[in-house]
Amino acid sequence: MIADSLPTFLVHPSPTPVPETERAQLLADPGFGRVFTDHMVTIRYSESRGWHDPEVRQRGPIALDPAAAVLHYAQEIFEGLKAYRGADGGVLMFQPAANARRFQLSAARLAMPILPEALFVEALEQLVRIDAAWIPDGDGSLYLRPFMFATEVFLGVKPSSEYLFVVIASPVGSYFKGKAKPLSVWVSDEYARAAPGGTGAAKCGGNYAASLLPQAEAIRHECDQVVFLDAKERRWVEELGGMNIFFVFEDGSVRTPPLGGTILPGITRSAIITLARARGLEVREEAYSIEQWREDAASKRLREVFACGTAAVVAAIGQVRSREGDFIVGDGQEGQLTGSLRAELADIQRGRSGDPHGWRHPVT
Ligand code: PLP
Ligand code: COI
Repeated sequence: MIADSLPTFLVHPSPTPVPETERAQLLADPGFGRVFTDHMVTIRYSESRGWHDPEVRQRGPIALDPAAAVLHYAQEIFEGLKAYRGADGGVLMFQPAANARRFQLSAARLAMPILPEALFVEALEQLVRIDAAWIPDGDGSLYLRPFMFATEVFLGVKPSSEYLFVVIASPVGSYFKGKAKPLSVWVSDEYARAAPGGTGAAKCGGNYAASLLPQAEAIRHECDQVVFLDAKERRWVEELGGMNIFFVFEDGSVRTPPLGGTILPGITRSAIITLARARGLEVREEAYSIEQWREDAASKRLREVFACGTAAVVAAIGQVRSREGDFIVGDGQEGQLTGSLRAELADIQRGRSGDPHGWRHPVT
């Protein structure tokens, strides 16, 4: 049973790690989420023992009973964050404690046990340390995916009494392959992502399952991402399938939809708000309607729109498509503020500048 002090992780290094030459080939162009490192971390939970048996071991399949609760009632949550090779050669993670806290909030919403923040961060450090050779150079990073799911063998609808927490890691390049161009987005008027009282603020797999059909519709309309509107009025812009959204106006002010339980409280979103305010820009967390978006784009009062998230970092949105018609933001190209905020954030994340907000977490 794990109480206040951190437990010792049993480390079983993989007997068959990927050979160095093969790894170098994989790292040359990893794409997003297709290449994985040699190891994974697992921690078990049961009602009687609490969190136990933390292990670092060879990455591989996980045996599950066909009646495991997650396969039926989707009691599953996850996180996403990145580790970088810093300018001085050391390894840095970006705000892992913030992901730990969001994981706890997701767990609470899904009636799952709370993993202590220190144990979450230690699990990440263990994996990053053993698989540090998998961090790509240059613009790449190591995407870390902690997740937890219900393993109790029982078909009754109730919170599971047993869980498995796992961390895997994937070297990644850009999320939008070959996209130097701004993104195009499809406004879904038929499907909503999250309703008040639902699970929109939690990072649970079910939210993403529900986003796949509208995301496929976006792709059919030749768009990169879907934009969700609020479930009640189908009017207020909420977020994209996997990113938060920001609007930049001609007076230099910035606006982003407020956190109200239906959108994911993005860690990148919060960082961007802080960076913009530190520049003296006015940032309003205020609802913004799709009609206003269309109107402000037409009048050119709206200068830039961008999406942000761990996987996508900061990406300009140039074109908006919907059943009501299409429109362009600004001149359809990346705006100045979008580019400079992305550069400022990336410099902090990669240790190329100072860390005025204490966001970097050195691992080695
Ligand atoms: N919104 C959704 C639905 C997401 O999946 C993500 C990605 O994690 C975000 C927003 C951005 O969150 P973060 O900046 O913490 O990665
Ligand atoms: C992330 O940015 O970490 C996400 O989870 C988004 C997903 C689209 C990969």
